Amino acid sequence: MSAAQQKAYAELAPLFCVPFSPMPLDFAAIFGNKNPVIVEIGFGMGSVTAALAGSHPELNYLGIEVFKAGIGKLLWEIDKRSLRNVRIIEHDAVECAEKMLPDSGISGFHIFFPDPWHKKRHHKRRLVQRPFIDLLAAKLAPGAYFYFVSDCKDYAESALAGLNAAPLLTNTCNGFAPPQSWRPKTKFEEKAAAAGREIRELYFVKQPAYKTAGC
Ligand SMILES: C[S@@+](CC[C@H](N)C(=O)[O-])C[C@H]1O[C@@H](n2cnc3c(N)ncnc32)[C@H](O)[C@@H]1O
Repeated sequence: MSAAQQKAYAELAPLFCVPFSPMPLDFAAIFGNKNPVIVEIGFGMGSVTAALAGSHPELNYLGIEVFKAGIGKLLWEIDKRSLRNVRIIEHDAVECAEKMLPDSGISGFHIFFPDPWHKKRHHKRRLVQRPFIDLLAAKLAPGAYFYFVSDCKDYAESALAGLNAAPLLTNTCNGFAPPQSWRPKTKFEEKAAAAGREIRELYFVKQPAYKTAGC
């Protein structure tokens, strides 16, 4: 961690990080309001989380990440931008989803550029596959969305197949979705695009669907 990230972590983690606990979260108590909650799994350095939270004060953002430097960076951004609608859980997302996310309580999942695990023998470590997809679908409120973006063709295709097979989810597009104009780009994405890797997006909803990805 940089010195700034260390300082932000030391001073702000007690305010904005929610400790792991095997109990469903009470979002009204955590955020101090009943606004919809968007969960971002693996926010990296948190630039997308901070940008979205800044432009959508009417929504709450819960980021789940295991990378301490990234958590320090997002805490620094929270302070710099005076964000009050972001909370962080520093823990494995699978266990968080199993134990901490309330059923039908999430308004949207963001999973942007998850670790691709390129080697075939490591594919089982990929986050976006069943049965984890079904677990996340159970956590979504009716009409809520699941938004996935990847620069790894093989991962995106296997995620599409897994999401299509999930009984609770419906694709808003015929296959991949167009880019959502409201999603800020990360440095990671810019590097992927500069290296010629195509970005693929998936935008599913839990029935009843109330919006599409614009296709
Ligand atoms: C390739 S990075 C992408 C970060 C960010 N979403 C972006 O677009 O720049 C993937 C991130 O997911 C996090 N991650 C991977 N597996 C995780 C898990 N099981 N629980 C929480 N975070 C995880 C990693 O620590 C890493 O920061």
